Amino acid sequence: MNNFFSVEDVINVYDLVKEAIILKKNPYSFKEFGLNKTIGLVFFNPSLRTRISCQKAAFNLGCHTWTLDINKDSWKIEMSDGSVMMKTQEHIKEAINVMSIYCDILAVRSFPNLLNREEDYKEVIFNKILLYSKVPVVNMESATLHPLQSLADLMTIAEIKPFYDKKKSKVVLSWAPHIKPLPQSVANSFSQWISKIKEIDFTITCPDKYNLFENFSKNIYTTYNQNKAFLKADFIYAKNWSSYIDYGKVLCNNSDWMITKDKMKLTNQAKFMHCLPVRRNMVVEDAVLDSPDSIVLKQAENRIYASQIIFLKILQSLS
Ligand code: CP
Repeated sequence: MNNFFSVEDVINVYDLVKEAIILKKNPYSFKEFGLNKTIGLVFFNPSLRTRISCQKAAFNLGCHTWTLDINKDSWKIEMSDGSVMMKTQEHIKEAINVMSIYCDILAVRSFPNLLNREEDYKEVIFNKILLYSKVPVVNMESATLHPLQSLADLMTIAEIKPFYDKKKSKVVLSWAPHIKPLPQSVANSFSQWISKIKEIDFTITCPDKYNLFENFSKNIYTTYNQNKAFLKADFIYAKNWSSYIDYGKVLCNNSDWMITKDKMKLTNQAKFMHCLPVRRNMVVEDAVLDSPDSIVLKQAENRIYASQIIFLKILQSLS
């Protein structure tokens, strides 16, 4: 593996999930690949899980890491080409080039601006990062995708209901309310990854005008009726996203869409999933998040091994 931007960089998703689950059982078994290697972690946006799980994954592989929070620790970065840099001190071209001199793998988080759909969905910023980096690049959440999260999510589902079970499991991605406009990246990415698993019956439920971009949702059953979607579900994955159609807008904050204990009763005693961070009693009721069926901490734990298997694949290709 060279760069890791999306599921399209993965040869076989089944094998990758299986390998990540095996790695979790013996996480220090590939330390020779990280010897004298450095992973740079660059954040244009805040993070708790991604930052720490990637550091832990690198540690497990014997790698050194450095982390840069661009907005707190660095110069203000200019993203546009050809601009007169009156308010910014360093251009992304030099910044990425230089940072990539200081590491063997560069992992980057850069959220969308949610103002210009075309720019976000062309992944203009991430493509610049790929262009200017001298070393392999890992996507720690870009404008439209969050692949390390999705890999951890698939691992979590597979640990509970292995994909090769005869009976198909039903997974529902449910939009849930939020006060701020959030990216579509987790929802896009989850849909993209889960569509590769034919043993899963996948449904998206969201309010009108919240349908995901068709590249990520084509051939996926999408319904505006949340109660109907929840029937017989084995996993409910809650996530807010802003509208793709009316780009970046919050068109609905109807609390009826919140995940409640009563709604979970419609399911097949479904496991509750969320990538975190989550706003309690806005996205999901305390009673659901704190119930034994909530697997959000397992998802967070699996972020380590999802990152680790990706770093390992890249390190193996470097050696
Ligand atoms: N789920 C996730 O990516 O969490 P952070 O934003 O805290 O990294």
